[in-house]
Amino acid sequence: MGSRRDFIKLSAMATGSLMVPNILHANHRALTKTNNLAKKPIVISTWNHGLKANKVAWDILKNGGSALDAAELGVRIVESDPNNMSVGIGGRPDRDGTVSLDACIMDHQSNCGAVAYLQHIENPISVARKVMEKTPHVMLAGDGALQFALENGFKKTNLLTKEAVREWKEWLKQSEYKPKINVENHDTIGMLTLDAEGNLAGSCTTSGMAYKLPGRVGDSPIIGAGLFVDGDVGAACATGVGEAVIRIAGSSIIVELMRSGATPQEACDEGVNRIIKKHKNLNNLQVGFLALDKAGNVGASSVFAGFDYAIHTSNKEELIEATFQKQWE
Ligand code: GLY
Repeated sequence: MGSRRDFIKLSAMATGSLMVPNILHANHRALTKTNNLAKKPIVISTWNHGLKANKVAWDILKNGGSALDAAELGVRIVESDPNNMSVGIGGRPDRDGTVSLDACIMDHQSNCGAVAYLQHIENPISVARKVMEKTPHVMLAGDGALQFALENGFKKTNLLTKEAVREWKEWLKQSEYKPKINVENHDTIGMLTLDAEGNLAGSCTTSGMAYKLPGRVGDSPIIGAGLFVDGDVGAACATGVGEAVIRIAGSSIIVELMRSGATPQEACDEGVNRIIKKHKNLNNLQVGFLALDKAGNVGASSVFAGFDYAIHTSNKEELIEATFQKQWE
C-alpha cells in the first residue's frame, strides 16, 4: 500500500474525479479479502464518551444484534447523561438559553433519518430512526420534528440543566462566540458499527456548538456531512466545527475516497487536509473524522492534536489518540 503522502499526491493529481491508480484498488481489495472475517463485529465512536457508548453497542453486536440497533442504542446512553454538556440532555444552549439537538442515523442500505433543531426531547437519535422508518422523508426540523416526536410517544423533557444555565450566564458576561479547541473535549458523538453479518451502520448526535446563534444547525444531522454509510464500501462520521465539515461534504468524501481505494486512515487524513486547504484561518478550527470500512479497518484523523476515539472489538476496548495534521500553537 502506498504511503499517505503518495496517496494524497495521487489523489491531488486526480482532483475532481476521485480517481486513484489501479494499484491502490488492487491492494485495497486484497486487504479487504484478508481481513474480512477477522475484524467484525466492531464499534468505534468519537471522544472518551465513546467508551461507555461502545459498551452498550458491543453488547448488542456480540450477541448477533444489528449494526443499526447498536448505533442507535449506543449513543443514547450519552444523550441521556445530563453531565455530558455537548450531547442530549445537559447540552449547552444557544446564546438565548435554548437547547436544540441535531442527530442522524444511516444503515447499510442507504436508509437514513435525521432531526435538526429539535427541542425538549432527550433522545434525538431515536426520533431520527423513527423518521427513517416511519416517514417518506429523511429529515424533520424544529417544531415539525417535535410534533412528530410527541406523536410517536417521546416525552417532553427539560434539557437545560442547572450546570448549563450557570455556564451560560457566565458566558453572557462577555457574550463572545469562540469555540474552544478541545477544551470541552467531547463535542458530538459519532458512532460507526459493523455487525457479525457484515452490515454497516452509523449514528451522529449533538447539542451543537455552545452559544450558537438560535436556529443554527451544524453537520451532525446532515447525511453526507456528519455521517455517511455505504454498505458496499464503508462509513464515516465527523466531530468538531460543523461548518467546516459541511463545506467539504466531509463524511461522504471520506467514503468516496475509500471507494476509490484509500484505506480508512488515508481517507480521514485526506478529509482533514481538505479542510486545512479550504480555511485560511485555522484558529480553533478543530475537526476530527472517523472511518470504518466494510472489512473492519479503522481510520481516524483530526486537524489538531487532542481528538481521540473509542474502539471495541472482541479483543480490544480502548481509547486511541487520532493522528493529527497540525500542532496547536
Ligand atoms: N459537530 C457538531 C456541530 O458543529 O454542531
